[in-house]
Amino acid sequence: MTRSSPPVIAIDGPSASGKGTVAERVAAALGFHFLDSGALYRLTALSAMKHGVALDDEAAVGQLAATLPATFRGGVVWLAEENVTDAIRAEAVGEGASKVAALPAVRAALLDRQRAYRQAPGLVADGRDMGTVVFPDAVAKVFLTASAEARAERRYKQLIEKGNSANLPALVADMQARDARDTARAVAPLKPAADALLLDTTHMGIEPAVQKVLAHYDWCKARSKQGN
Ligand code: DC
Repeated sequence: MTRSSPPVIAIDGPSASGKGTVAERVAAALGFHFLDSGALYRLTALSAMKHGVALDDEAAVGQLAATLPATFRGGVVWLAEENVTDAIRAEAVGEGASKVAALPAVRAALLDRQRAYRQAPGLVADGRDMGTVVFPDAVAKVFLTASAEARAERRYKQLIEKGNSANLPALVADMQARDARDTARAVAPLKPAADALLLDTTHMGIEPAVQKVLAHYDWCKARSKQGN
């Protein structure tokens, strides 16, 4: 990090680990910007589906990612003129996102866009490769995880609360399949950065996790000052 670049807190981990909520609350507590990088992969998949582009057509999907007309405003996500806040959360779009995220051209196309979120006073970035690839010089890195069963149960509760039907064993299987794909892909696989704090939230609520991340950030800041 150059002296003038705003600090980044990178929060990575598998789906439904709670990292999105934790990252958002950490950003709010510090008054930092927030990047939900998964939303960019979801938007790319949705855009491909809308344009009838095959999710494994790397050149075409990469082109869509490079020119994605996406905007985030006050919790609302827009794709061109369309409000897609709910649409990008659909299971089918999540599945599609996991597929397009394995394409090197897509990851390359989204790199600069993600880095552009690094603005004063700082950024909390949520994803899979924030600490390893996008912001390797992040001042604090956290890898948030929980067992597949615990994550499936959280997803199950969310779906039921929203009035959807859900099947717990199927959700556990989906979770494991998506983890396997995200972990095994050749580019930017899901893995903790060597210098990340590992935080297992299987038996931890959101608020204690937020406090642990904030404490870790304070510790990292103090350490990097000592190093200067
Ligand atoms: O965090 P999420 O569920 O919204 O992410 C959707 C998909 O995008 C997920 O399968 C992994 C992928 N992703 C990624 O490869 N790299 C990121 N930085 C964020 C998400």
